[in-house]
Amino acid sequence: MSRDFLADFARMSTFGATAGGGVDRQAATDADGQVRAWFGELLAAHGFTVEQDAVGNLFGRYAFTEGAPYVLFGSHLDSQPLAGKYDGAYGVLAAAHAAIRVIEAHRAAGTAPAYNIAVVDWFNEEGCRFKPSMMGSGVVTGKLPLETALATTDPRGVTVAEALDRLGARGDGLLPEIAAYGEIHIEQGPSMQEAGVTIGAVAETWCAFKYEVVVHGEQGHTGSMRMADRRDALLGAAHVITAVNDLIGHFPEETLHTTVSELYLEPNSPVTIAREVRMLIDLRAESTDELERAYALLRERIAEIEERTRTRVEFVSDSVWRSAPFTEAGVRLVEQAAADLGLTHARVKTLAGHDATNVKDLVPTVLVFIPSIDGISHNEREFSTDADMLAGLDVFTRVVAGLADGALDEAADGAGS
Ligand code: GLV
Ligand code: MN
Ligand code: MN
Repeated sequence: MSRDFLADFARMSTFGATAGGGVDRQAATDADGQVRAWFGELLAAHGFTVEQDAVGNLFGRYAFTEGAPYVLFGSHLDSQPLAGKYDGAYGVLAAAHAAIRVIEAHRAAGTAPAYNIAVVDWFNEEGCRFKPSMMGSGVVTGKLPLETALATTDPRGVTVAEALDRLGARGDGLLPEIAAYGEIHIEQGPSMQEAGVTIGAVAETWCAFKYEVVVHGEQGHTGSMRMADRRDALLGAAHVITAVNDLIGHFPEETLHTTVSELYLEPNSPVTIAREVRMLIDLRAESTDELERAYALLRERIAEIEERTRTRVEFVSDSVWRSAPFTEAGVRLVEQAAADLGLTHARVKTLAGHDATNVKDLVPTVLVFIPSIDGISHNEREFSTDADMLAGLDVFTRVVAGLADGALDEAADGAGS
């Protein structure tokens, strides 16, 4: 029974739908639980065995041959606050539809591919409610200890373990051992639309250094305290924010992206000087060397800021991934699939992180992009056309069929791309 992709996409987008046309489905919230339940039923209806693992990854396995190894496809159903409905969710649904098409084609022909097929919704890719991002794939790839992930708290002090248990989303399933991984995603930037290409074969990822930082000051009265005696944590934080932005002046245009994206202020009271600001610094660059240079420059500036504002800036945790190529054989597979379908295509880089960013360090991994209109993402106005979603699904179906037939077996010999 073939499914209507666009009808499923519309239904999926009702879970956590916002008035502005997007979704708000932060990890392990009710809306995330609802979309997961719907997606699990979709997989089960097509013969997948559906399970959840200890960190809330939801996956379905379809075995052609008992005991044979698997290839895995997926992305994430969680979202940022007031986000678009395409980021992650398009890729999860496309993975399921592509897998179903390939399974049905084999069943109709009475054949079996070399590998069994699994589809995954990775838990908490976004990392907004619980940091860091790419949590579920981070645990499975050994980059993040399970206990650390489960003990991570949201801003209200709820742990990942508690939030998952509330949804019944923590299971005892284990993702099967995999020979290769594939993901399709929206670009989230404007380059493909500008170049007029429909399919992006992701050849490389930018690197990212993210730091949780606490600016320590001292609480005091906004009226009575002498200016010269103050240690205002919010003033220190304000200087750090501009210093983070000023870094881009030291690098060629658009090769470094810098942001302070999250801020918590204590006690956040009108007549009281802030004693503490907790913030998230997010630095991205094409090359890891450049990003290390940017980080060193930032630490120099922060030392000056500490002296000038009489505050102390503490780096409390980090989350890092380095610039790296994707498996060349996978890039060529995407290019070939697009060419065979008569679709325009180009090699692109991913500036954003994806679960594929983690998984590519474990097994040969393919990442496919479709265009994002005007490059808007993490915004309710995020948009990709139906035509591009369907073209991406056609290409991804060939990627699923190819990986199931062992197209990346040779790349696996030098594994971890
Ligand atoms: C995704 O997790 C990102 O940080 O780009
Ligand atoms: Mn995403
Ligand atoms: Mn995202």
